[in-house]
Amino acid sequence: MDEFRFIDRSATNAEKYMLRQKLFHTEAVIPMWVADMDIMTPECVIHAVQERLLHPILGYEIMPDSAYVAQIEWVREHHGFEIKGEWLSYSPSVVASIGCAIRALSEAGDEVIVMDPVYPPFYSMVRDNNRQLILHPLKQDNEGIYRFDIERLRAQITPKTKLLLLCSPHNPIGRVWSRDELLALGELCLKHGIRIISDEIHSDIVFTPHTHIPITSLSDELLHNTITLIGPGKTFNMAGFSISTVCIASDELRTFYDKEAHCVHFGDGAALSHVAFEAAYTYGEKWHRRLLQHLECNVQRIEEWITEHPQIKFRPPEATYLAWLDCRELGLGDRELREFFSSKAGLGLSPGLSFGKEGSGFMRLNFAVPTEVLEDALSRLSGALHG
Ligand SMILES: Cc1ncc(COP(=O)(O)O)c(C=O)c1O
Repeated sequence: MDEFRFIDRSATNAEKYMLRQKLFHTEAVIPMWVADMDIMTPECVIHAVQERLLHPILGYEIMPDSAYVAQIEWVREHHGFEIKGEWLSYSPSVVASIGCAIRALSEAGDEVIVMDPVYPPFYSMVRDNNRQLILHPLKQDNEGIYRFDIERLRAQITPKTKLLLLCSPHNPIGRVWSRDELLALGELCLKHGIRIISDEIHSDIVFTPHTHIPITSLSDELLHNTITLIGPGKTFNMAGFSISTVCIASDELRTFYDKEAHCVHFGDGAALSHVAFEAAYTYGEKWHRRLLQHLECNVQRIEEWITEHPQIKFRPPEATYLAWLDCRELGLGDRELREFFSSKAGLGLSPGLSFGKEGSGFMRLNFAVPTEVLEDALSRLSGALHG
C-alpha cells in the first residue's frame, strides 16, 4: 500500500478543501494551509475503527487505561519522558485545553507571554479569556534561526505576568527548542512565578538531527510548573478524531485544571476516537517512520527549488510539515502577497501575517502532500514568479 499516493479529499468535508472559496475566492487553488496532511491516515487506525464498527452499539464510552498506556509508552520511547497514568486526562482539542489551562492558572486581566509569530489561537485564547497578551517577538539570528531574547523577555515581565504559552516545537517557524533554550525559559518562569502551558502537538514531527525535549522533563520544579498538551492529531493525521491529552504532574495544577474542564464538560470522548488513538500509538511506529522519510524528501525538494528561485528564502524546518517562506524580497505588501499566491500561483497558503506582526512578508506552506502535488505546487509557483 502506498500511503503517499494522491487521494482526492474533495468528496469529504475536509476543511482544507471546503473553505477554499471562502478563503481564496476560488476553488482552483491547491490547498496547502490548515495543518493536516493530504496523506492517508495509518492503516492500523482505519482498521481498528472498522473492527470497532463490527459491534453495532456506539453509546457513551470511556477512554480505556490501555489507550493512555499506549500513549505513555510512545512518549517514553520517542521522547524519553516517563508519564504517570494519573497525570493524563482526555481533551477533545488542544486549543480547548489551552483555554481551560489559561482559566485554571490565571485571573482575568493577568498577562500571558506569547511569542510572535505563532499559531493564531494562542492569541485568541488569551484575548477571548480576558487576559492580556505580552507579545515577545521571535527574531532571526545571522544564520536565519529564530530565537527569543531572554533579556528582553525578562524586561517584559511585570507582577501581573502569570503564564507563558509555549509552542514546542514551534508552529509556524519549525523550531525545536534546544535544552539550553528551554532551561533559560524555564528558569525565568520559575523565578517570576510564571506557570507554563506547553503545546507539544507537533513533537513527533521532528527531523534529524533534532530532538524534542518536553520542557516538563527538565527538572522536578518544571514538572510541577507545567501543563503539557499532546496528542496523535498531527503525528498520525487523525485530527478529525478530536482527541488529545493533557498531562499535569502537579496535584495542585491538576485540581485547578480539572475544575475548568469540568465546567465545559469535556466528557470522555468518542468510541471511535478511543480505538483510533490506541491503535495509532500501539501500531503506528512503522508508518510514522515512513512518514518522516517522505516529509524529509519533500523538504529537500523545496530546498532544491529554492536554489533556483532565490527571491524566496527558506530555512528547512527542524520540526513540523510547515515551510515558512520568506517572501519579503518579492517586494509585495501582505495583501498583494496573498493575492499573488492564490490568484497568480493557484496556491492556497496561510498568510504569514495571520501568525502575528512578525509574520509580515512570509507565507506558510503545508508540505505534507504526495510528491506529485508538491511538484505541481512548485511548478505553479515558478510560473507565477517568471510570468
Ligand atoms: C501548535 C498547535 N496547537 C494546536 C493545534 C490544534 O489542535 P486541536 O485540533 O487539537 O485543537 C494546532 C493545529 O494546527 C497547532 O498547530
